[in-house]
Amino acid sequence: FSGLKAEAFAQKEEQRCQYNFQSRASYKVAVLGAAGGIGQPLALLIKMSPLVSSLHLYDIANVKGVAADLNHCNTPAQVFDFTGASELANCLKDVDVVVIPAGVLRKPGMTRDDLFNINANIVKGLVEAVADNCPDAFIHIISNPVIFLFRRTLSANSTVPIAAEVLKQKGVYDPKKLFGVTTPDIVRENTFIAQKKNLRLVDVDVPMIGGHAGITILPLLSKTKPSTAFTDEEVQELTVRIQNAGTEVIEAKAGAGSATLSMAVKLGRNCVEALISSDLNGLNEYEQKALEALKPELKASIEKGIAYAQKET
Ligand code: NAD
Ligand code: LMR
Repeated sequence: FSGLKAEAFAQKEEQRCQYNFQSRASYKVAVLGAAGGIGQPLALLIKMSPLVSSLHLYDIANVKGVAADLNHCNTPAQVFDFTGASELANCLKDVDVVVIPAGVLRKPGMTRDDLFNINANIVKGLVEAVADNCPDAFIHIISNPVIFLFRRTLSANSTVPIAAEVLKQKGVYDPKKLFGVTTPDIVRENTFIAQKKNLRLVDVDVPMIGGHAGITILPLLSKTKPSTAFTDEEVQELTVRIQNAGTEVIEAKAGAGSATLSMAVKLGRNCVEALISSDLNGLNEYEQKALEALKPELKASIEKGIAYAQKET
């Protein structure tokens, strides 16, 4: 659902209802880490898709109840639960799409990079199993620290480079099928800008570049659609709010979770067919400076992920 505004989404849903769901459902999707704060609402969204015939939920614990609950929803996908490493291979057999929110989340006062040591190992193990059991699947990585280069298309981050290295080592790497999920930043920037400037949310579209942590999150406000003027103070205030929005939720949840309700995933049918990166021409001075400032941090995060995956094999 990335980038879709509420109204457009509602219209699409209405159109979908007019189709015969049963005859169109054919995709198998697996969620790894499905019993968690991200996994559960994500599984519900996937269960609602008319394109999905089979939803496989995997976690190290507590996933049976989630599957039982979801199976009562009156949509066509059948939900199956898989618990623990011994059931992972079965979970992944013949799956078309794998989404990975498995891992630990931030507590107040932590950075996303503080999660690296635990989540790197979890993602590496899960992607090895994906490579062995469904090497052609689309793989979406949510587990932090996530950083990406090209919003809405291919992504690179600390966990995504780990996944890429694992897939390369297994001889099944297809860059058009590996994604880092950082949709909340786009959802947030459109929401905050629409609120600040009294714009209709459905009209607002702001490109974003860089990463998914602190100053590496760089909204390009000068390219806001519809064309909108911002004062220097507004640019600074909005940029900082967008960069800290994840932390805003972490603090509001006071150690009980991170953002789980303002994020989702958009898929193409076969793979990424064209790389649609944000246009970097015509950045203003503020954006150009911010871009130069984020590059070393982003590069370091990517190299950290690659080094980890290479060291551990
Ligand atoms: P959570 O703690 O609620 O859930 C994590 C789940 O992962 C748990 O159910 C846990 O049992 C499971 N898990 C742990 N190790 C596992 C393993 N080896 N195999 C399978 N499952 C395993 O956390 P959450 O709120 O769901 O967040 C999950 C991750 O997503 C965190 O790293 C968080 O920082 C990240 N996150 C990313 C974004 C993004 O935009 N990319 C947004 C929000 C959260
Ligand atoms: C977010 O942006 O909400 C997620 O990356 C979770 C976090 O740790 O902030």
